Amino acid sequence: MHIPDIIIAIDGYSSTGKSSFARLIASEFSFLYLDSGAMYRGVTLMAIEKGFIDADCHTDTAGLSSALKSFDLHFTMTEDGSKTFIGNRCIEKEIRSMEVSGKVSPIAAIPCVREFVDMRLREFGKRKRVVMDGRDIGTTVFPDAELKIFMTADLEVRARRRAGEMAAKGEKVSIEAVMANLKERDYIDSHRKTSPLSKAADALVLDNSRMTLQDQMVWIRGVIKERFGNVSD
Ligand code: DC
Repeated sequence: MHIPDIIIAIDGYSSTGKSSFARLIASEFSFLYLDSGAMYRGVTLMAIEKGFIDADCHTDTAGLSSALKSFDLHFTMTEDGSKTFIGNRCIEKEIRSMEVSGKVSPIAAIPCVREFVDMRLREFGKRKRVVMDGRDIGTTVFPDAELKIFMTADLEVRARRRAGEMAAKGEKVSIEAVMANLKERDYIDSHRKTSPLSKAADALVLDNSRMTLQDQMVWIRGVIKERFGNVSD
């Protein structure tokens, strides 16, 4: 199916399968997929490594803000899709660790961090044919995106999916620990002052608690046909 040059913004709670869905959309419609959460995770990894977060999880915001001025965090396109790099170091694995997951939400709530990431994300919007997932893509990063989706799913379903993904990568964690992490992140993400996670007024809600990825693709093809009319198969 060929669809017009649009931006697809996918927001929603943690571990609702936004990135798997967005990747599949990108491959089906020849769009570029960008994972905005990876940018916040990259900043968090740098903050941990440079000692800007102390043992009580307090952040040296002034130090972090100054480090961001020369922080070379970027996406590099590979045959395997876009990957996150600091300079020439690929950080895809490190940014998915429990340590980064446990610290990323407070870091993502810091206004200078959001400014840093937003600037990089908006660069990609200029080219269109982009599908980006995150928490504020449809509300703040691309408020004019032509198609906005807000994803949600039951907490336990999300925790089981995330624990399964982590086990596949060799990191064993209990469902309870993942549920606690997801709950905490949802709370911080939706209650922060700057660009909190919220559904854009014109976003379509997709609850995928009982849907497979294939079901979700059937759903989005229907939405696209309805919204953009005569798209060719
Ligand atoms: O999608 P994720 O789990 O990789 O996101 C990691 C964190 O980054 C998450 O706790 C919220 C934050 N985030 C954000 O605040 N805004 C975005 N657009 C994307 C992610």
